[in-house]
Amino acid sequence: MTSPLVEFTQVSVTYGRGVRALHDVSLCIAKGEILGLVGESGSGKTTLCRVLVGLTVPSSGKVTLGGKSVSDCLREQPLAFRRRVQMLLQDAVASLSPRMPIGRILAEPIAIHHLPEAPTRERLRGILERLGLSADVLAKFPHQISGGQARRVGVARALLMQPELIIADEPTAGLDVSVQGELLNLLLDLHREFGLTYLLVSHNLNVIRRVTTRTAVMYLGQIVEEAPTASLFVRPAHPYAAALVSTNPAVDPARRAHRIVLQGEIPSGVSPPTGCRFHTRCPVAQPGCAHEEPALRDLGEGRRVRCHHPYTLPLRSFP
Ligand SMILES: Nc1ncnc2c1ncn2[C@@H]1O[C@H](COP(=O)(O)OP(=O)(O)O)[C@@H](O)[C@H]1O
Ligand code: SF4
Ligand SMILES: [Mg+2]
Repeated sequence: MTSPLVEFTQVSVTYGRGVRALHDVSLCIAKGEILGLVGESGSGKTTLCRVLVGLTVPSSGKVTLGGKSVSDCLREQPLAFRRRVQMLLQDAVASLSPRMPIGRILAEPIAIHHLPEAPTRERLRGILERLGLSADVLAKFPHQISGGQARRVGVARALLMQPELIIADEPTAGLDVSVQGELLNLLLDLHREFGLTYLLVSHNLNVIRRVTTRTAVMYLGQIVEEAPTASLFVRPAHPYAAALVSTNPAVDPARRAHRIVLQGEIPSGVSPPTGCRFHTRCPVAQPGCAHEEPALRDLGEGRRVRCHHPYTLPLRSFP
């Protein structure tokens, strides 16, 4: 990998009351890459995004952007950092100030970031056109526009900053399937046009499969597998990743027969299971798994897995 744009090194986050939302997370995002992040609700995906934008401070470990720590970037050049890294939020409507018309919301950063007025407005016009947002949207207030439009306004606001990195936390959640498709095509076009780097969090495995180049799978605050997306979906190595991938309705019917259904809920982050955190639900756990925590091992071909007994066969061949 060329020098990464983003690098997490052994990052842990503990919230009040002892919830360990991230535990020893190491991860790189290369410039120009679309990295997918998947995992059950509560696995720490949003926390990872928040650490990257500097909204949550890690309890230990280090996160860098372009080789410089996020905390240093924020301290030394807060405005520049807030331009370089843009986060598209899950709740797009709530992220827009309710009492301002869209036009003012979009114009606000021009003053805050001292962007050159005329060229920026010109660029905004281009972006709105590109996003299929007509000029009459500008006069409306956030509650007067649809969820899909709010999502686009969020994208327009982010793009206006000419960011290097866009973090999209469930950007298509709650949208109609057709609007979802449009938004994804748009993100892909923008990726091609501007060479942007994305971190894309989604519950929707079809979205991940279609859009991302590499995927990281999280379970209970840890990355348990990281692999090129295409090979992850054919040959997941971690039992949790395999279970997740096997539930993807788009997998071919022969493989659907091998759907792996996990028992139980994700355990509490306050007192996670000893040894391998997945051992309480793992269909192939061995006695040692409850005692010895597996390290994230490199299996070659861009694949890293945190398991003592990773699968080596394609999903189709599972028992
Ligand atoms: N502000 C917070 N205070 C305390 N616990 C939190 C807070 N935010 C998230 N958590 C907990 O941290 C864990 C990870 O949450 P989150 O990062 O939101 O996961 P995901 O986005 O994968 O659903 C969960 O157990 C969640 O309840
Ligand atoms: S280490 Fe053991 S319990 Fe954990 S995922 Fe691997 S086989 Fe399952
Ligand atoms: Mg989340």
